[in-house]
Amino acid sequence: MRELSMMTEGLGLTRERLLEVDVHVRPGDALRALREEALAGLCTRPKELSPKWLYDERGSQLFDDITRLPEYYPTRREREILEAHAGEIARISGADTLIELGSGTSEKTRLLLNAFQAEGLRRFVPFDVSEAFLRDAAAKLACEYPGLQVHAVVGDFERHLGFLPRSGQRMVAFLGGTIGNFKPAQRAHFFREVADGLAIGECLLLGTDLIKCRQRLFAAYNDSAGVTAEFNRNVLRVLNRELGANFDVEAFEHLAPFDEANGWIEMQLISQREQVVRLAALGRSVNFARGEVLRTEVSCKFRPEQVEAELAEAGLHLSEWWTDAAGDFALSLSFKR
Ligand code: SAH
Ligand code: AVI
Repeated sequence: MRELSMMTEGLGLTRERLLEVDVHVRPGDALRALREEALAGLCTRPKELSPKWLYDERGSQLFDDITRLPEYYPTRREREILEAHAGEIARISGADTLIELGSGTSEKTRLLLNAFQAEGLRRFVPFDVSEAFLRDAAAKLACEYPGLQVHAVVGDFERHLGFLPRSGQRMVAFLGGTIGNFKPAQRAHFFREVADGLAIGECLLLGTDLIKCRQRLFAAYNDSAGVTAEFNRNVLRVLNRELGANFDVEAFEHLAPFDEANGWIEMQLISQREQVVRLAALGRSVNFARGEVLRTEVSCKFRPEQVEAELAEAGLHLSEWWTDAAGDFALSLSFKR
């Protein structure tokens, strides 16, 4: 479904702002998907949910708060890289259409938008599953960048990449290290889908968090102010609201250890006591043993050669690799050949 709105403003000059919103995830679809996933993920062992359920409006706001925490370095490091290289990225990509997957607030993306505008950017396509948050972000961007077509897409990047606009010379940006929130098999599938959707000569700008000292990794996901804990527990509030569940949110503790074997941080909610939770919409109850873990997210950390090899496997050839001064985070630009 497509909605179009055009706002004009007369202050001597008439400036035209164009905002389009395509919606591929209707609340009913999201609810059905949540029901299915909750059934599959909570009624088995080990218990696990997809991280996308973390991002209702409150979850999206909490993630935004996380990006400003002193311990959470990825956002600052990626911004540092964009500040240094956005102009180069715009020139090398040759793109006039910028698509951002998992766009959130598109805060850092403004650095790209400014640089791309100098190179003739025509259209920006923020794509996110969190509808209200995306609408708000897209409306702000349409106001800040008059003359730029802002074409927002409410979609699930695991299901709706086929609906991305096809015209123009495109660059897909996937920032923030969100690629790390896929497990390896999902990640390989995602890279193939992105590559299949690109034409020869189009490119992917990818943000990846790099393997580093375990203490810093741990601190970034177990912050002293407890914001990440609140972000994690928020998924239980989502289940309470959407599935008529009765999780006692405070009866679950947040922990995000680094899993050495898998090379990922794993966000967990640990049941503090034996408990039974009713999920009215599923007509089911779920038992939690004391100490039982519900996994809510993985966040993979990468080695440079691994990123290059995985992209190549999907048919995306690494052209550029930039890191911040400390070598914490990387941005790569790879082209479909
Ligand atoms: N790119 C931003 C935000 C990262 S947070 C940054 O770098 O700061 C991850 C974003 O991905 C959130 O906005 C969330 O709503 C979105 N997201 C998570 N799972 C998604 C999915 N399956 N499909 C589309 N968007 C998703
Ligand atoms: C969105 N994503 C890249 C974040 C990450 O670092 O994996 C989500 C997050 N989870 C806990 N803190 C931040």
